[in-house]
Parts: sequence; structure tokens; C-alpha cells
Amino acid sequence: MRRVQVLPDDLANQIAAGEVVERPASVVKELCENAIDAEATRVDVAIEGGGVAACSVADDGHGMSEDDLRLSITRHATSKIASLEDLLAIGTFGFRGEALPSIASVSRFRIASRLRAADAGASVSIDGGGAPSIEPVGMPPGTRVEIRDLFYNVPARRKFLRALATESAHVTEVVDGIALSRPDVTVTLERDGRRVREHLRAASREERVRSILVGWELVRCAGKMGPLEVEAHLSRPEKARMGATGLWVFVNGRPVRDRALSRSVDHAYGSVLEPGRYPVGVVYLDLPNDLVDVNVHPQKSEVRFAEPRAVQDAVHRVLSSALGSVFTSQLGLGAPSPARAASLPFDTGSRGPSHVAEQPEAVFTGSGELDFSGAMQLTSGIPSTAGAIPYPLREDRGAPMLSTTDGQTVPTSIRFIAQVRGMYLLCETDDAIIVLDQHAAAERVTFDRLRTAFHAKAVAMQTLLVPEIVDVRAADIAAVEAAGDVVQAMGMDIRVAGPTRLAIHAVPQLLVRADPRALATSLLGELARSGGRDYSGAIDLSLATMACHGSIRAGERVGPEQARELLERLKEIEFAGHCPHGRPILMRLPFRDLDHRVGRR
Ligand SMILES: Nc1ncnc2c1ncn2[C@@H]1O[C@H](COP(=O)(O)OP(=O)(O)OP(=O)(O)O)[C@@H](O)[C@H]1O
Ligand SMILES: [Mg+2]
Repeated sequence: MRRVQVLPDDLANQIAAGEVVERPASVVKELCENAIDAEATRVDVAIEGGGVAACSVADDGHGMSEDDLRLSITRHATSKIASLEDLLAIGTFGFRGEALPSIASVSRFRIASRLRAADAGASVSIDGGGAPSIEPVGMPPGTRVEIRDLFYNVPARRKFLRALATESAHVTEVVDGIALSRPDVTVTLERDGRRVREHLRAASREERVRSILVGWELVRCAGKMGPLEVEAHLSRPEKARMGATGLWVFVNGRPVRDRALSRSVDHAYGSVLEPGRYPVGVVYLDLPNDLVDVNVHPQKSEVRFAEPRAVQDAVHRVLSSALGSVFTSQLGLGAPSPARAASLPFDTGSRGPSHVAEQPEAVFTGSGELDFSGAMQLTSGIPSTAGAIPYPLREDRGAPMLSTTDGQTVPTSIRFIAQVRGMYLLCETDDAIIVLDQHAAAERVTFDRLRTAFHAKAVAMQTLLVPEIVDVRAADIAAVEAAGDVVQAMGMDIRVAGPTRLAIHAVPQLLVRADPRALATSLLGELARSGGRDYSGAIDLSLATMACHGSIRAGERVGPEQARELLERLKEIEFAGHCPHGRPILMRLPFRDLDHRVGRR
């Protein structure tokens, strides 16, 4: 155990600064992480009034001396790093020396601590950043932090808090996250005097995951690639949720949000994951600390990998080989992913389906020259929708025999001839045969119309005769509250109808054929993925996923009238526009080439 010391200015200045305490859940997260860093085997959390009125975290960790205790509430005082080298390979949750002083400055704060070897402890109290008062206390070894009246001196912050039930739900999520991160630690949560979580020390990650994600029939996948170890417990594809919020990702034990990684997980399911559905489960990535930078986000909810593509590739390969073997054999479907071609050896565990892929091939070359063979490429038609639409990966296709419409519009002379295999629309123009993928084309048209309407602030809405009720997580409620205007502008009227319940009152007119619940959950999923901050990136993705739900599907009969309407709409679209990686929605075979092939010319 190192002593607490104040970081020199030049080191302190290299630390990602920003708001540490945003809401009660952030207080609980910081305090639990401190407990884990102090090698606690037990962490007890209690909150009252959503954590705003009161919140305490007690641990049985190594505790602090009175001198360290005094210092611990000083800015940039930490025992966890001392030099720049330490900052480059952080092995603890904490490293900034910011959390305690930040929390103390916005609450009525008390911290008490006792070293294991000491007879008694000491406590320090501060009211909103005033002068601290110190006194000896009798207490068991470990540390206990209590706060009351969060943000009592920062009314602006208080205003941004949500309903107490929502804040409570966020706290619960943090506690579950800590429990998932560290199965070897007992973690409990009391809400307003009621014990709502009791995660007793578990023998493995798997045991902990199964006790938290009860009823999900998870499949265990594990594998190693170079220095990266992947362990995942994922839902079966037919059990996948409609919202993209059920996936936990831990990097070296830290819960992180990483769109690209989540997408790698979605893609690993290949074609067995239905459009608009997202897996539920937990993914643990473990890699040497110097290959991941945790000093990038004030709440530490994002990390930066030294070689992000290699990490995504490894996750995709390990998971797709494991998932592919489970789900293709059980569902009788074809190979879901090109990554399976690697034909990795599997090892079936004793408890439930379990698949281990070993591929010791060096992915991290350290030279910046990464091995992308088998890496996924996102080539979805509309802005790639987080794997929601399992388009084939580009490397699956041979060299395109026929040209696509990239950078063009659909020719005005196009005429519909017939529907083929329930999936393709056979058409002709004056100089070519055109084969359209009916779902991709319809989806593209719907997306384009929705997007135009959205930017013109004119998405026409259709009120539902009877509001649709959808049960969601409290975090989804928070997302709806936070993004209400954006949701409305997308043509959805979604209202909070309970602590974990939403009512959908209206949907975009363009999407009346879609299941309103599917629309709402995919929208929420995309908003949640945006991290609740800047929605601009999430808007296209949300509109795209929604468009997918509301468009003609493969296998649906399309008559001449409907086909003609679709073609008319397609003509209005400039494909070179906003979508750089367009999945081809049509193929064109010029009569000239046809003549040549059959030997006419
Ligand atoms: N529960 C605890 N048990 C033992 N020591 C603690 C505990 N909480 C805090 N400390 C000590 O107080 C110091 C300051 O804690 P604080 O959370 O403010 O900073 P940090 O954990 O070092 O960095 P960060 O701001 O990134 O969390 C820690 O470095 C640690 O030495
Ligand atoms: Mg800390």
C-alpha cells in the first residue's frame, strides 16, 4: 500500500479533467471503485432518496492512516500513481486523486477510515468544501464514506437530476456493474432501508453473470488472441432484445461504452441475429494495461486502445467462431460469418454451452501494421446500424460482376418486370437489366424520406388508437427524459408511464407498418449508445434502424403498383449523398454486356 501524495502539477495536468460527479450514481461508482482499489472483499452501499438525500459506501479494505485520510480529500492527492510511467499503465480504477475532493465539494461529506493494524480510526467531515474537522472514531478496519444532500450548494446541478426512481436505478446499475467487474467481492445495496441487491462472493465471472442476468440462457464464449483475452456470456440470438442497451463491456474490469466494440459483438452473431435485435450479456476483455489508455474520459467510461481495430477484430473473431458453432448447429442455419472460415478448435465446457476459441496468432504487431485479414468491414446500406442489419460482409462477396449505383441516381427509364424469389425486383431500363434488392431499396427510401423530414422538422406523426406499453430498464426512462425533444422530432411520441414503463402514443406516419415497440426500443438503444451526450451521431443510426423496421421485407410479396411506387421514390435519391459505404441496393447488367456474354456481339 502506497502513501497518499499530491501529484506534481505537470502530472496532474495530464489527467483527463472534467465533471467527476454528475449524479448520485457517479458518487457511488467512485466510492465503490476506491473500495475495490483498497482490496476490499466486501462493499456495502446504501442510498436514500435516490442517493441525493444520503448515500454511504463502506468497505473492509486496507484503510488509511490519519495523515493519508487528511490528504485524501485534497485535489490531485492519490496513492495510485506517482510518475508519468504509472500513468501509462494504470492497474487501478483510480489515478487522478479527484474523486473524493470533488464529491466533498458538492455534498455534506464524511469519511472515516481505519488501518487494519490500527486500534481505532479517524474521521474527517466537510460541509461543501469548508474547512475539514477531524476526530478519532471507533470502527472496524476499512473505510466508510457518507454523504448527505448531494448538490445542496450547486442548484444548477440539482436541476439536472431526474426523478429519484431514475437516479436510484442508475445507482443500482452501477452496483451491478461493480459486482460484474469483481465476482470475488461481495457487494450489497440498500435502497431506503430495503436490501435490494446482495451479490455474494462468487467463484467465477460466469457464476456472477448468471446471478445478475437471470433467465437469459447465456452462452459462454472465450478465447485468446495475442495479448487479448475475451470472455463473454451472451444471449441466444432468438432471445436478443430490441434495444441495444443490454450489453455490458468490461475492459480490464472497467465498465466502458464503446460503440465499435458493441458493434463487433453484434456482428459476431452474423446472420442469426434478426434485424433490429441486439444481444444481451457481458463481455470481458483483458489485455496488458499499457495497451489501453484509461485516461481519456472524466468519468472513465471510455478507454482508448493502442490498436483499436486489432481489438475489434479479435473480439469479432473469437465471438463469431464460438457463437457460430453454437447457433448454426442448434438453429440449423448456414455459416453466419466469414470469420468461421478460420475453423478454430473448440472446447466444450461442462456447465451449459461453452465455447473456447484459441488463436494465438499475433494481432498486435505494435508497428501500426495491423492484420486485418478477417477483420469485419462495415458496409451496411444505410449508415451502418450497429450490426442491426446483418448484411453480408464485403469480403464474402466476389468481385462485383455488375456495377452498382454508387454516386448516381436510379435511371428515370426504369420499368418493373417481376418479383423474383420474393426478394428481388427484376426491372429494365433502355440499356440494361436491373435487379433490385427489395428490402434494401425500400429501407433506403424510407430512411431518406425520414431523414429529410427530420431535418425539415416535419416528421408527420400517426397517433396510435391505443398507446403501446413497453417495459424497459430505468436507464431507458432516463434516456427518454434526456432526449425527449430529439425523440419527438423523430416522429415518436413516447411518454414515461412508470419507473420502468413507457407508453408509445404516436409513431412516424412513414413507419405505420412497423411494430411501434420495435421502433421505440431500437430508438432507445441507439440513444443509449450515444452515451446520452451528443445525439447528432445517433440520429442517422436511429432513423436507419427505424427505417429497417418500417420497410418492405425480404419474402414479402411486392405487386406492380408497389414496385412502381418504390422505383419512383428511388429516382429521387442521390446515392452519392450522405452514405459513403452504401450497400448496393441494385445490380445493373447492361444489355451490351449481356449480348457479349451470349456471343451476340
Ligand atoms: N475506500 C478507501 N480505502 C482506502 N483508501 C482510500 C479509499 N478511498 C480513497 N482512498 C485513498 O484516497 C486517495 C484519494 O481517493 P480519490 O478517489 O479521490 O482518488 P483516486 O482514487 O486516487 O483517483 P480517482 O480520482 O481517479 O478516483 C486514494 O488514492 C486512496 O489512497
Ligand atoms: Mg478514486
